Amino acid sequence: MTAWIAFSVNGRAVDVEVDPMRRLADVLRDDLGLTGTKIGCDAGDCGACTVRLDGRQVCACLVPVAQAAGGDVRTVEGLAAGDGAPGGEPREFADLAALQRAFLEAGAAQCGICTPGMLMAADDLLERRPAPTDAEVRDALGGVLCRCTGYRKIVEAVATTGVGDGIGRPTREPSPAAGGAVGARLPKVDGIGCVDGTARFGADERPEGMLAVRAVRSPHARARFTIGDLDALHARHPGLVKVLVAADIPGQNRYGIYPTGKDQPVLAEGLVRHRGEAVCALVAEEAVLEAIDDAEVPITWEPLPPIFHGKSWAKPDAGSRRAPSWDVLSRGPGHEPSRHSSTGLTRAILFPGSRRWGCCAPRCCSRCCAPPLAPRASIRWTHSARTRWGGQP
Ligand code: FES
Ligand code: FES
Repeated sequence: MTAWIAFSVNGRAVDVEVDPMRRLADVLRDDLGLTGTKIGCDAGDCGACTVRLDGRQVCACLVPVAQAAGGDVRTVEGLAAGDGAPGGEPREFADLAALQRAFLEAGAAQCGICTPGMLMAADDLLERRPAPTDAEVRDALGGVLCRCTGYRKIVEAVATTGVGDGIGRPTREPSPAAGGAVGARLPKVDGIGCVDGTARFGADERPEGMLAVRAVRSPHARARFTIGDLDALHARHPGLVKVLVAADIPGQNRYGIYPTGKDQPVLAEGLVRHRGEAVCALVAEEAVLEAIDDAEVPITWEPLPPIFHGKSWAKPDAGSRRAPSWDVLSRGPGHEPSRHSSTGLTRAILFPGSRRWGCCAPRCCSRCCAPPLAPRASIRWTHSARTRWGGQP
């Protein structure tokens, strides 16, 4: 069922015919082309989709568009002066809002996937508190996760936006002369696109005829599983092109941040070790994927006791083939909240033998942490030999 929903976006009146329960984030991105609003988790955990609705910061992935009816939505495209045309070119530095310039000057935007959400949360704060303290900044931005910056530069950018000349620092630092770059601050080459919403990530491109992939994820913290005969699923959904399983992954079925640390399977092999682990991937056009319920995929689960701390690996029933190097992020009973950094996160866990830290935020669901926050993707246009990397525009 669809309905006409009217509201304003960045000061412009819009009227869209959509399912009223459609997520505001999807309407902004897919129907209105405002891809500056990013989607990290699609579940209210990461804050990448933060926009302002009638002045308040909200997670656009949690808001049904009907809730915006008659309201005023502000996105990252509306922060700077001038026309925030979808898919447009980055603005000039001088046209950016003071907050955006402060982000560039402080180096607060790295990959840029969290930046629109950070900016909108900060915009909300600065309207209420023009000269916030660091603590107020951390509190106001606590719902937006960043995997790149360590937060310090973001806090600095927001806290200095209203200081002195009004933009933190007066001008963008010029590139140093040839031979003088070592030790100098360099303007980020794609920085403006990161702060004005024009940077294009993998999920922002929709080449015609593109197929989509949807991972079917584990509802269990730990379980064995088998995937049954897929013929009935294909028969029910003729548009389903392929169901990828672990055996379809070419080469090594592992990924990780470092070449020596590829300790996560792309698709689980008979055993899942955290809720949200991908077990298979459906390939089809988006409308076909949306019509498929996870429950239709013939997966038989055998739930196992979850493992909450390192000592559990030693138990005979742990059932892991590579326990010492596998880190599982989970909030077990009895975890005492303890602040460990300026991030606003409450707990960090390092499992014995693990090579990386995981954060356990108050709303941790393992979807933000176990896979990258930024949905990495690459699109290659063979006709133009152009390659687009999603996570690093
Ligand atoms: S995408 Fe909305 S909170 Fe993560
Ligand atoms: S800059 Fe924050 S996630 Fe990359």
